[in-house]
Amino acid sequence: MTAAEQKQQAPYDLVGGAVVVRNIVDRFYDLMDQEDAYRELRALHAPELGPMRVSLAGFLNAWLGGPRDWFDDHPGVCMMSAHARLPITGETADQWCDAMRRAIADSTVDPALGVKMAEALSNMAQGMAARAASAA
Ligand code: HEM
Repeated sequence: MTAAEQKQQAPYDLVGGAVVVRNIVDRFYDLMDQEDAYRELRALHAPELGPMRVSLAGFLNAWLGGPRDWFDDHPGVCMMSAHARLPITGETADQWCDAMRRAIADSTVDPALGVKMAEALSNMAQGMAARAASAA
């Protein structure tokens, strides 16, 4: 693929589409569920993670420039505002970022693209933590 062709592709296509996104999300929640390092983050979530797997995968598909079904199903929802009600701390935001960085690194996503994706998501998570801290 030429550099020009690559530029025209959405990140969604470059990462490998919905199947790869869902694999990342499943790994993310498996890590959160199974490893003690993510205990505080896990405790914020409902016992049943199935609905979160579907919702986060749908959001990431749209965020990466793929199908926008998640936004059709959640009209007017802003992810930052939706998290402003949650008791997010620097610690739980760091846990979120670490589990997501590992889930992406364990996927088939090209490592350089994966690092950029993890950085962008970490920025979003840290923004949520900063907003929660200023609201507290
Ligand atoms: C800063 C660290 C974060 C923490 C501690 C956190 C925590 C949570 C919690 C506790 C829920 C509700 C879960 C439940 O009801 O079981 C939730 C929902 C959700 N979060 Fe996060 N989150 C974080 C960052 C993010 C980021 C960066 C994204 C987007 C990339 C995201 C996407 C979502 C989605 C899509 C939902 C479900 C919304 C819905 O279907 O109504 N979260 N989050």
